[in-house]
Amino acid sequence: MELRWNEEQEMMRKMVRQFAEEKVSKAVQRMEETDEFPGEIVKEMGSLGLMGIPIKEEYGGAGMDFTSYILAIHELSKVSATLGVVLSVHTSVGTNPILDFGNEEQKKRYVPKLASGEYIGAFALTEPGSGSDAAGMKTTAVKKDDHYILNGSKVFITNAGAAQTYIVFAKTEPTAGVKGISAFIVEKDTPGFTVGAKEKKMGLHGSNTSSLSFEDAKVPVENLLGEEGEGFKIAMANLNFGRIGIAAQALGIAEAALEYATAYAKERKQFGRSIGSQQGVAFKLADMATKVEAAKLLTYRAANLKEHGRSCGMEASMAKMFASDTAMKVATEAIQVLGGYGYVKEYPAERFFRDAKVTQIYEGTNEIQHLVISKALLNN
Ligand code: CAA
Repeated sequence: MELRWNEEQEMMRKMVRQFAEEKVSKAVQRMEETDEFPGEIVKEMGSLGLMGIPIKEEYGGAGMDFTSYILAIHELSKVSATLGVVLSVHTSVGTNPILDFGNEEQKKRYVPKLASGEYIGAFALTEPGSGSDAAGMKTTAVKKDDHYILNGSKVFITNAGAAQTYIVFAKTEPTAGVKGISAFIVEKDTPGFTVGAKEKKMGLHGSNTSSLSFEDAKVPVENLLGEEGEGFKIAMANLNFGRIGIAAQALGIAEAALEYATAYAKERKQFGRSIGSQQGVAFKLADMATKVEAAKLLTYRAANLKEHGRSCGMEASMAKMFASDTAMKVATEAIQVLGGYGYVKEYPAERFFRDAKVTQIYEGTNEIQHLVISKALLNN
């Protein structure tokens, strides 16, 4: 099977590649040095229709298919994994929960702003004491008159500070386990809600990661997303969607590392000939290319299932796990191919390595992906 894109998908791929090479590439160095959120570029992405690729046109999106959206994350991440995660989190877990679980009023109120890029979306599930054990959260939401009062804190929230809306999970019935969790759309200016300082991360410089704090935060009852008790289902369903985006981000990093290492191996001469013509390096490149190809097939297969409304939780986890492990492996080997040049900041290999690491951690660690895959296998 060969991956072939239809006309619309190919148009998206080319447009994002051009945008990434011409505009995003110029901002990479600045983001590395300043760690500042690339607000201007995100605005331009909004003007190009990239902030709402798979969102229906009636809600202000581009109304394109899921594969086009995955192609965009893939191409963007080849140049900047930072912009890749901004786009993935914004769309899959920041916007889609409202589209899939919101009522008509919520959809009309928030989705067009998110799909146009006027708003950036974020997703707040993880807490200081509950990462993999997402249902172990402590944040509570108590209904009082026409508001829910939220108390608690969240950590490692991507797009925090830059985002205007946050999909926040809290316990409305603390003794009911996964069935006691509810989801809320929380606006940036909600009284009692504050965003903490930006984390200083190993990689993904420019992307925002912060804690959130809720101290008697007053969220209007109309901002309950879905029904009370439906929150865990909403989180899991959208993480399935999100994990394909992270797979595409990891694939972009891996492909960029492979391409850079291959080009370098052709140019660099040792012992009177290119290092690529010597078996130690040539076989390394062969292994890297094979892994990238496999990651690509898994990622686009999961995207294809999602696009056709088929169940894709297990396949999303497989794609995320394999593509992120591939990104880490290929980026590590790219450094090895470059030798000393791979270890210095003047060359991009060390950035690929630093950016790759988190793809094995967020949207469910790869250990959790093993759990999801094995449960799906054994329960069938
Ligand atoms: N898709 C659909 N449903 C799922 C699901 C999935 N992937 N995983 C679990 N569920 C459902 C189960 O089927 C079950 O439903 P029923 O009650 O109807 O049977 C329900 O959820 C509870 O499942 P479990 O009993 O398996 O729940 P659990 O508490 O044992 O744990 C877990 C489930 C898979 C470990 C889950 O907690 C999990 O995915 N943890 C990882 C959390 C995570 O991914 N965090 C990422 C944070 S967001 C982020 O990183 C974004 C970012 O900023 C980049």
